Amino acid sequence: MKEELQIRRMEEKDLPAVRDLELKCFSDPWTETMLRDMLESSLDSCFVLLFGEEEQTAGYANVRVLGDEAELMRICVAPEFRGRGWSGPLLEEGMREMTRRGAGSATLEVRAGNVPAIRLYERHGFQKEGLRKKYYRDPVEDAAIYWNRDLAAEDRFY
Ligand SMILES: CC(C)(COP(=O)(O)OP(=O)(O)OC[C@H]1O[C@@H](n2cnc3c(N)ncnc32)[C@H](O)[C@@H]1OP(=O)(O)O)[C@@H](O)C(=O)NCCC(=O)NCCS
Repeated sequence: MKEELQIRRMEEKDLPAVRDLELKCFSDPWTETMLRDMLESSLDSCFVLLFGEEEQTAGYANVRVLGDEAELMRICVAPEFRGRGWSGPLLEEGMREMTRRGAGSATLEVRAGNVPAIRLYERHGFQKEGLRKKYYRDPVEDAAIYWNRDLAAEDRFY
C-alpha cells in the first residue's frame, strides 16, 4: 500500500492540478504557461505533495537555485489540507534540493501577516532581514524578506 503522504518531483502531468492549487492558494495565481516555464527551467526544482491512495495533489513547492543562493519561489498546501503540519516536509524537501544543488543560503518573500508561513519558515532557520513596504496587491501588504544563511546547518532535517 502507498504511504499516506508522498513527495515527488513535479511532472508535466501535474500541471492541471498545480494550476488548481495556484487558483486556490494565491491572489496572483500563476498561469499554466508560467507553470510550464517553471517546470522546464533548469534553475527551478518543483515538488508535489500527494495524499492517499488516490494521490490527490495536496500541495506543491518550487525552489530556484542561482549558484550559491537559492530562493523559495512558491509553497502551498490546499485549503482543505491545511493545519496538519504537511508544509514542513514539503519545505524540507525543497531545502534538501537547495543543498544538493550547491546553495549555501536561501531567501524568500512573504506577506508580513502570513502567520502560518512565517512560523513554518522560522522553524526552518529563516530569519527576517528586511521589509518591502506595500509590496503586495489584493490586498496591499508589506513583504517581509527572510534569509537562511546557513542551509548546511539544517542537518536536523537531512
Ligand atoms: C503557508 C502554508 C503552506 C502552510 O501550510 P499549513 O498547512 O497551513 O500549515 P502547517 O499545518 O504545515 O503548519 C505550519 C505552521 O503554522 C502554524 N499554523 C498553521 N495554521 C495556523 C493558523 N491558522 N494560525 C496560526 N498558526 C498556524 C502551525 O502551528 C505551524 O507552526 P508550528 O510548527 O510552530 O506549530 C499554507 O497555509 C498555504 O498554502 N498558504 C497559502 C499560500 C502561501 O501563503 N504560501 C506561502 C507564501 S509563498
